[in-house]
Amino acid sequence: MEPILLKEFIYWVGVVDWDLRNFHGYLTQRGSSYNSYLIQDENITLIDTVKAPFSHEMIERIKSVVDPADIKYIVCNHVEMDHSGALPAIMKLAPTATILTSPQGAKGLQKHYRTDWNTRIVKSGEEISLGKYQLKFVLTPMVHWPDSMVCYLEKEHLLFSNDAFGQHIASSERFDDEYPFTTIMDEARKYYANIVLPYGTIVKKALDAVAELAIDIVAPSHGIIWRKHLKEILTAYHQWSANETESRALIIYDSMWGSTAQIADALRFGFETSHIRTSMFHLQKNHISDIMTETLTAKYICVGSPTLNNNMLPTVAGFLTYLKGLAPQNRIGMAFGSYGWGGQSIDQIDGVLQDCGFDMLPLVKVQYIPETQTLKQIESNLRTKILGD
Ligand code: FEO
Repeated sequence: MEPILLKEFIYWVGVVDWDLRNFHGYLTQRGSSYNSYLIQDENITLIDTVKAPFSHEMIERIKSVVDPADIKYIVCNHVEMDHSGALPAIMKLAPTATILTSPQGAKGLQKHYRTDWNTRIVKSGEEISLGKYQLKFVLTPMVHWPDSMVCYLEKEHLLFSNDAFGQHIASSERFDDEYPFTTIMDEARKYYANIVLPYGTIVKKALDAVAELAIDIVAPSHGIIWRKHLKEILTAYHQWSANETESRALIIYDSMWGSTAQIADALRFGFETSHIRTSMFHLQKNHISDIMTETLTAKYICVGSPTLNNNMLPTVAGFLTYLKGLAPQNRIGMAFGSYGWGGQSIDQIDGVLQDCGFDMLPLVKVQYIPETQTLKQIESNLRTKILGD
């Protein structure tokens, strides 16, 4: 793939990772890309790099535009190794280049690479002249690491947003007017739910900071570049970062002999007959990162497990650990399950959902196999609780 022009003298020189299927636990069915960008100005500037195994491919792409030895600045918006991994390789070819990074970025680079590269720390709002272009930096800590920042070409209204607004998509196409829009939004949603969700308050501040900038193009470090659907992705980020929910229920469970599954069905009937859209997720048949995508905007999160050796099933424990870490807010939770004699799993689930800060519906606990009348009662109790609220 040749370098792709975003604007005159501004190129995509990243790489496409067609085979990526796991990004720290997140199932990336569509692969990903690591987007780096080259600005061919008086001071030649590279914005971010790529994962280390792809260094050669990025360098070949850079070489087709400029001699890497002529690079003056390398912006490190984020130290995570999917964006900094090729720094050692490019710094060998551009030993006089200066790395521009945030204060936390400088510390992080030292801890990762332990080198004496030329480094200049930039402040939020600082601008550096590249010649024709002026590059402005906005620090966005925790979107995704403490070091994270974005940078902006004022003249071209072009935001290099690093992880923010990214999607894990491997594609030959680079722009949002060349690729199916619903797929881009689905992957942007999944990316937000599985990576950005814990940082909603910080994302809101970052959105406020970038709202002051005139933007025509958002060039993230993963996936497709936004130039047609900016309004849609910015609106979505505002909604997601506000933890806005819709009247929708998720029933997430595992079952040993089918009894917890029967309770899950009774709860589904209860929600459906309360006119609430409901989705079921058996934890042996769905990946937790796909369930998290649905959790992003669902108001009701019901989690069920039978009791095994005084505990919940490991699939349920794994999901709850993942959910708690991603910290969705403003939800209503419910624990349910069948048990034989101890029944600890249901209280444990209730406890974790309370720890998540959820408002809780009364838990549902049934010994052994639920009778038809018990299931009808579960359904009717839920309906009364919801319609009565
Ligand atoms: Fe794409 Fe936080 O790295």
